[in-house]
Amino acid sequence: MGGYLYNIALVTHVVGITLAAGATVFDFVIVSIHGQNRSKSILDSFVSETIHNKVSRLIGIGMLLIILSGIGMMAFLHGVWGQQTWFRIKMIILVIIVVNAIVVRRLLGIRFQKMLQAEDVEVASQQLLDVHRNIRIVQIVQMLLFVTIFVLSIFKFN
Ligand code: HEM
Repeated sequence: MGGYLYNIALVTHVVGITLAAGATVFDFVIVSIHGQNRSKSILDSFVSETIHNKVSRLIGIGMLLIILSGIGMMAFLHGVWGQQTWFRIKMIILVIIVVNAIVVRRLLGIRFQKMLQAEDVEVASQQLLDVHRNIRIVQIVQMLLFVTIFVLSIFKFN
């Protein structure tokens, strides 16, 4: 019975990972496509930020599933991995992912929106490019952090 519950938590963990990491990749693709079409229109930017708002909700739900199921598995295993180096590094990276998603990406998104509404289009468009590049850097870092956690969780280096 315990093993059954453990497997349910593990499946939930993987579903959460699929949602959170998948939505991160999708967000990156949307922002990249928008970058290629930047001459198009401000409306275009609005659309991609609106999509981003939906996508970040998916990332949030995914992260919640990952964390709840992870805590569930740790409780079942009586925290057996807790003392191991790979697990501690995993938790540090988890915090960086959350801060990156909730603070950094959100602040950049807000700046992006504000610039779209700026009156001086010339200045705004140069700054828009900068913010756009920074958003992509955040997203690439985010994807690399996910892959690092995959490697740590599966190889369990100690
Ligand atoms: C972004 C966050 C996370 C990612 C991407 C992630 C990823 C993974 C992966 C890929 C596995 C391997 C599954 C397998 O070997 O079958 C795993 C297992 C596991 N994770 Fe996570 N995880 C995350 C967060 C957490 C958190 C917050 C906890 C606990 C508080 C946690 C606890 C566990 C446990 C206990 C296992 C099972 C280890 C085992 O028995 O093999 N994870 N995770």
